[in-house]
Amino acid sequence: MYRNDAPALELRGLTKRYDDGTLAIEDFDLEIPAGAFFGLLGPNGAGKTTLISAVCNLIRVTEGDVLVFGEPAHSLLARSWIGLAEQDINLDRFLTVRETLTYHGGYFGMQRDEAEERAEEMIAAFGLQAKRDTRAPKLSGGQRRRLLLARALMHRPRLVILDEPTAGVDFELRTELWRYIRQLHAEGTTILLTTHYLEEAEELCEEIALIRDGHLIARDSAAGLRESFAVDRLQDVYVKAMARS
Ligand SMILES: Nc1ncnc2c1ncn2[C@@H]1O[C@H](COP(=O)(O)OP(=O)(O)OP(=O)(O)O)[C@@H](O)[C@H]1O
Ligand SMILES: [Mg+2]
Repeated sequence: MYRNDAPALELRGLTKRYDDGTLAIEDFDLEIPAGAFFGLLGPNGAGKTTLISAVCNLIRVTEGDVLVFGEPAHSLLARSWIGLAEQDINLDRFLTVRETLTYHGGYFGMQRDEAEERAEEMIAAFGLQAKRDTRAPKLSGGQRRRLLLARALMHRPRLVILDEPTAGVDFELRTELWRYIRQLHAEGTTILLTTHYLEEAEELCEEIALIRDGHLIARDSAAGLRESFAVDRLQDVYVKAMARS
């Protein structure tokens, strides 16, 4: 199904300094194998969203290389392979749920019929049937989050990036989302997730990277991290890792 066996993501010496001088990511190396379920953990301001923005070609990187399945992140191909649900919900206020999805499909080259069919699938998967013809400003916060996730998955991306997808969502959506992304992962999709819920990372992710101040602190499975930090809970790994100078 996939064209090559390159890693889903390769960051080499990635540095991002924002225009105001903030150094958000510094000389960062990371490789995520194709098909992985990978978690990024770190405190507010650690650089997670910046890293994701670099991968999704949303910001200009200061230095370094970002490759997505072997292709430069700025290439059309790489961009078509990524589905991103951003931390900040950005939806077009003038589009209905259905239009949001079909336009997105069209943007990624889907034919009209295919896009409409897929949109219905996504609407059903995320329980938005009753809101099909509702515009974003009239959706509840959780419904907007659902639509954002549905849109990210609309064009069947090979790499799904979810930036705090479960912040502020109800128990039902969280459970459904977990089930849904687990299924995507089982089908071979690579998942990159950020979350502040350690139990979520532990439950879902095969591997976790801990980041702080724009640097990679540790990277391993939850079990491997617990072992190398000599603690019983991921929570304690986190506290220890973040306390290190
Ligand atoms: N557009 C910007 N201009 C200047 N600085 C920025 C900009 N966006 C982010 N930063 C800074 O970069 C650093 C990393 O921010 P980033 O949003 O990547 O963190 P994060 O790990 O996603 O945090 P959170 O868990 O709060 O979402 C922070 O110090 C932040 O203030
Ligand atoms: Mg963030």
